[in-house]
Amino acid sequence: MAAITVQNLYKIFGKKPEEAIPLLKDGMSKDEILNKTGLTVAINSASFEVQKQETFVIMGLSGSGKSTVLRCLNRLIEPTQGKVLIGDDRENIMDADKEHLLKLRRKRMSMVFQNFGLFPHRSVINNVAYGLEIGGMEKDERDQKAGEAIAMVGLEGYEHKKPNELSGGMQQRVGLARALANDPEILLMDEAFSALDPLIRADMQDELLELQQRMSKTIVFITHDLDEALKIGDRIAIMKDGAIVQIGSPEQILTEPADDYVKAFVQNVDRTKIITAQTIMRKAPSINIKKDGPGVAVRKMKKKGVSTLYVLDENRRYKGIITIDDATELKNKGVKSVEDIIRDDAGTAAPDTPIKHLLPTALSSIYPVAVLNDDRKLLGIVDRASIISEVNLNGTSPTNEAEPKTVPEHS
Ligand SMILES: Nc1ncnc2c1ncn2[C@@H]1O[C@H](COP(=O)(O)OP(=O)(O)OP(=O)(O)O)[C@@H](O)[C@H]1O
Ligand SMILES: [Mg+2]
Repeated sequence: MAAITVQNLYKIFGKKPEEAIPLLKDGMSKDEILNKTGLTVAINSASFEVQKQETFVIMGLSGSGKSTVLRCLNRLIEPTQGKVLIGDDRENIMDADKEHLLKLRRKRMSMVFQNFGLFPHRSVINNVAYGLEIGGMEKDERDQKAGEAIAMVGLEGYEHKKPNELSGGMQQRVGLARALANDPEILLMDEAFSALDPLIRADMQDELLELQQRMSKTIVFITHDLDEALKIGDRIAIMKDGAIVQIGSPEQILTEPADDYVKAFVQNVDRTKIITAQTIMRKAPSINIKKDGPGVAVRKMKKKGVSTLYVLDENRRYKGIITIDDATELKNKGVKSVEDIIRDDAGTAAPDTPIKHLLPTALSSIYPVAVLNDDRKLLGIVDRASIISEVNLNGTSPTNEAEPKTVPEHS
């Protein structure tokens, strides 16, 4: 179910902004329009849906329109054209009058800013309670709600400190608590962790993931940092010159980049952390223990040119492997079942295991790794060679683990 639906959204800055729209439709570029008309295209026909409880990340170079999109969602910036529908009721926020809009921002969507946006002279609790206070809530009630939000972000005990008595990470927790205090459906986060030191930033990312597991909000999160996007995004949208060029899961963005722009984003990523067993697995040569004996097994291995088969029960549940030598011997003895020669020498893994974590399993056995679902049904196998070649491919790229991989900003 969609929490936010954006349809053909445009934002043009300048005088007579609507005049840029037909030019865009004719295929004129952002630069050409700027040169010809002086108008700045910030959003060019963006359409996307954010699902309920999804963390939807928007990425793109500086100036590509990320913040403008986010601010159009609650009309902090007035769109030039298009629709923004929110919630089950698919309320079109373009129709909201001023007063209703304020209510929407207070109750249904909260924003978390990059530079925290705290009031220096207010205590932590009064910062967190600010929106509730503006909304007219009584002090007792708002202090209770603010206290709950402060506990949620792990800041109990700091209620009466001033922002400048807190570290950057703690200040951003206050920002987050303030956004959570009125229990909104939607959190809008614009580069919320970008001002933090790398280690604290990583902590905040973990914290957000953990919070999200408990709260299940709908989150739209903007970042420059691809690692951050891959870590916290359920899906990622990539923007260029105001247009959305690709929307997909982290794995789709990495394995099927839509164009060279997206490719340039992902080229230095450690693919082995993202690509999973199910992406590189192949069909397993297998037999059904209930009906296939050593004779069938040997013939199948010869026909397929393999020396191992994966043995399944009648429900396709994985039981182990057999080798061609064992099966041939059994066949010569006239034994009818392969039961006695089943080995458990092949490693097993879940389909969503990243290749990086698959490597030790793959190296611990000469047999391809069996990929099993939760019911131990065999989905496929992954060869050592394909795992190692993925890891090597990645090893030869100029990835430096210690360096945060950010998209270069143009100034
Ligand atoms: N108030 C404004 N007036 C005129 N042009 C603007 C305004 N705000 C943004 N723009 C222009 O709109 C385009 C998109 O800007 P936006 O701030 O959305 O980019 P961004 O992707 O968030 O960039 P960054 O990563 O640097 O934050 C840019 O070309 C920018 O110059
Ligand atoms: Mg921005």
